[in-house]
Amino acid sequence: MSEIDQGKWRNALPVRKLKNGKKKMITVDKKLILVGMHENQYFATEALCRHMRWPLAWGAKVDDDCIRCPLHQTTHKITDGELVEWSPFPLFPPYGKLLGKMSRQKDLTIYETRVEDSQIQVYF
Ligand code: FES
Repeated sequence: MSEIDQGKWRNALPVRKLKNGKKKMITVDKKLILVGMHENQYFATEALCRHMRWPLAWGAKVDDDCIRCPLHQTTHKITDGELVEWSPFPLFPPYGKLLGKMSRQKDLTIYETRVEDSQIQVYF
């Protein structure tokens, strides 16, 4: 590991603690993050939904490289955090769209991941 890397990569959790298809909310360096494994690839995002701060570890679905919050179905890409859909749910009565209008649309922060010494590491 180079000197430059030492200040930036942080151990998140041991590889054996995260199985494919699972995700965990953890604190790394006082930052609350979500670390998951989807189709045998690790990913890490900020832990709380950008819409109304629901913890994504509690019921969010990962599909097609996107993470979808269970509360109002806001969806972001896990590759770069780009917003795909902002609070579309429920469709009728249209609370979702209404709630969506009450908050500013934002991308999700994504953290780079790698494996070193059997640890999943994230890059801050
Ligand atoms: S809190 Fe996640 S979509 Fe509303």
